[in-house]
Amino acid sequence: MISKTQSDKLNCTTNLRFTRNARTAWEIVLRSVSSRFKPKVLLPAYIGYTDREGSGVFDPIEATSSEYAFYGVTRNLGIEMDPFEEHVRSGKVNIALVIHYFGFCRNDMNRVRSQCDEYNVTLVEDCAHTFNLGLKGRKLSNYGDFSFFSIHKYLPTTCGGILKVNTARFDLEPHRDLEGAPTTVLEQYAISDYEEIYRRRINNFKLYESLLPRHEGLEILFELKGEDIPQSFPVRIKSGRRKDLYFYLMKKCMPTTALYYQLITQIARNEFPLSYEISNEILNLPLHQDITSDDVSRICAQIDEYFQVHSKAV
Ligand SMILES: Cc1ncc(COP(=O)(O)O)c(C=O)c1O
Repeated sequence: MISKTQSDKLNCTTNLRFTRNARTAWEIVLRSVSSRFKPKVLLPAYIGYTDREGSGVFDPIEATSSEYAFYGVTRNLGIEMDPFEEHVRSGKVNIALVIHYFGFCRNDMNRVRSQCDEYNVTLVEDCAHTFNLGLKGRKLSNYGDFSFFSIHKYLPTTCGGILKVNTARFDLEPHRDLEGAPTTVLEQYAISDYEEIYRRRINNFKLYESLLPRHEGLEILFELKGEDIPQSFPVRIKSGRRKDLYFYLMKKCMPTTALYYQLITQIARNEFPLSYEISNEILNLPLHQDITSDDVSRICAQIDEYFQVHSKAV
């Protein structure tokens, strides 16, 4: 019988599921694989928490009683490939998580994918700081068997996440109560102009690059490459001045964030000293779509003034 109207709900759809937030999506992944094996998760040794929000990456590990191990990160939060591969080959982990920090695609993703394939490890991309879903043909978020996003880090909503499923190997668990995204989130998602959001964020990033003062106390962490759409403009502030600069800018009504200024205690300080160094120095300057080029100029001028007063220019 030829039907008069369309009825197949999955026909012509994308592989996305809306969730309460990114951590819910991550927890659904962990619960879903649990029916096949007990999750033993390989995590990057740069994961933070706050007393108010907990840890979006680690709380689901604890909630599902998953086992875990850490791999080190490089100076700009890339994947330390040797330890990563050693763990994957060891047979002691069955899930690997890669975090695309601050919207920047991590290094060696093709190699990460092929190692995970070879050793039968499920790859998950944490795209909570990225948001290039609408862009066709992009690789980011398609390397993993799963990837997850955080809508409220990108759009003016109080919650919202997305789980992207790129594999048919697992039956996804249905949402539990309160694990779906509220209507307000779906509406904001539907009306947002992503091309315009990307354009503004990328322009602001480039403006920071050209206007930020070159001081020995300030290191720019990332360059914008092919697919990157930045969540913020991360810098490292040296000589123990990060906290001071953070409060200095706050007093000037220019609030910034420091992701992550506090690492989860499971990351051993003596094993991962570089993670603690970055955590003590990181400062994320705002570049979201409400930030104007004038705002960026003023922030850069204020940072310059801070360094003029507090340290010698290069
Ligand atoms: C890298 C990363 N992944 C996941 C999350 C969790 O995001 P959400 O607040 O949407 O659960 C966060 C934030 O907490 C994060 O920084």
